[in-house]
Amino acid sequence: MTMTTTRAPLARAPLSRAPARRRGRVSGAVSTWTRDADVVAWAREAWERALEPQDDVIDATLGRGRDALACATTMCDGLVFGFDVEPDAIADATAAFERAGVASTRARFSLRCHADALEELARTRPRSFGAVMFNLGYLPGDADVDVRARRRRTEASTTVRAVAAACACARVGGVVTVVAYVKHEGGAEEHARVREVLGALPAKSWTVVERRVLNRKGAPVLYVARRVAE
Ligand SMILES: C[S@@+](CC[C@H](N)C(=O)[O-])C[C@H]1O[C@@H](n2cnc3c(N)ncnc32)[C@H](O)[C@@H]1O
Repeated sequence: MTMTTTRAPLARAPLSRAPARRRGRVSGAVSTWTRDADVVAWAREAWERALEPQDDVIDATLGRGRDALACATTMCDGLVFGFDVEPDAIADATAAFERAGVASTRARFSLRCHADALEELARTRPRSFGAVMFNLGYLPGDADVDVRARRRRTEASTTVRAVAAACACARVGGVVTVVAYVKHEGGAEEHARVREVLGALPAKSWTVVERRVLNRKGAPVLYVARRVAE
């Protein structure tokens, strides 16, 4: 699988030879109210409900590629654009797609800030993605404390640009999902600004839902913005 570090090509690639499994069978991603903080599972439910088999999707915070892979293998057969600023993220996500047997032509991963990447896609491919997903914060899964401390976190200023551009990328019926964490330094501000951007979307074109565990301090928050009309 090749990793692209340049601008994402725009042509549609052939569909994977290993087509996505159909709805309702997202392994490990079924939300239940007993796993009270499973905001990622809630986000996956939103993608699953919105996505059509032919859809292309964007993971604006690719990380280790778990969210993108869930889409690619169980929800849709289109291209999966993925952006991250950590080289390890791009490498791990690429390897995860390879291991899962997803056709390399479907993965368009770039080492690039999501604000720049999505603003470009908003210009070149407006209203054409079934889902654009954000899981904010830093690359998870480092055992080493020093490595963890050096990881780049998403930042309010670039996150809000990227979220605004993501809304321009979503097709009618598509969703933009944002999982925001409030406990770490800068997290509360980032969350507040994302909430402001999504809360200001016009109600005639968008329905925006906020979902969080109310009785646990500092619980992460999921936003699902669905474009309901042009
Ligand atoms: C919580 S992780 C995402 C998890 C990922 N979706 C997965 O399935 O593994 C957040 C990611 O955002 C990335 N990130 C931070 N700043 C970014 C930026 N400006 N543009 C794109 N990605 C960024 C981090 O490097 C990290 O990998």
